[in-house]
Amino acid sequence: MSDLKDVLDKIELTIGDITEEETDAIVNAANPSLLGGGGVDGAIHRAGGPEILEECKEIRRKYGKCLPGHAVITGGGNLKAKYVIHTVGPIWQGGIADEDNVLRNAYLNSLKLASQYGIKTISFPSISTGAYRFPVDRAAAIAIDTVANYLKEDSSIEKVRFILFDEDTYRQYERAKQSL
Ligand code: APR
Repeated sequence: MSDLKDVLDKIELTIGDITEEETDAIVNAANPSLLGGGGVDGAIHRAGGPEILEECKEIRRKYGKCLPGHAVITGGGNLKAKYVIHTVGPIWQGGIADEDNVLRNAYLNSLKLASQYGIKTISFPSISTGAYRFPVDRAAAIAIDTVANYLKEDSSIEKVRFILFDEDTYRQYERAKQSL
């Protein structure tokens, strides 16, 4: 059981490109097909190379689509990161389709998978706040709260970084972290 100060020390926020991260695992904001897309998904597949897509296709063949809130793991291909955890966030529909819980589960299942693989350092993008249109302030609060509560219970993960792509998103996550 970690206390709040330990947890806060483990959560880092930065502005940058998640494909540049030197960490055990980076998290991809994927779609259920796992066959790539734009945004983070496109950047990771471009930088990581075809190996990642091949592993995603294999996962599709074995287990079918990745449902919203769920997570799967592949190697990192040409990335500096050893693994890519692909998770699917909710598409924002106005808050009438349990989007908050689906987003919570996307972070939670990514962290659980990381722990299962002995991953100690992991970097997240701001899941669902791009093409999926989830309000950034609301997503930031869910993301930070879910990660903080997980880190309180599971001390195996040593560092969680949020790699944000613009100032406004960064500020929303900073505000969410400060209100913990
Ligand atoms: N590094 C870090 N963050 C990034 C990067 C990057 N290289 N590229 C984009 N982002 C940011 C976006 O600015 C946004 O804040 O990641 C956040 C998530 O945006 P999206 O990538 O659009 O992800 P999401 O909203 O979850 O939508 C997922 O988009 O790319 C498709 O295949 C994907 O269908 C899926 C959908």
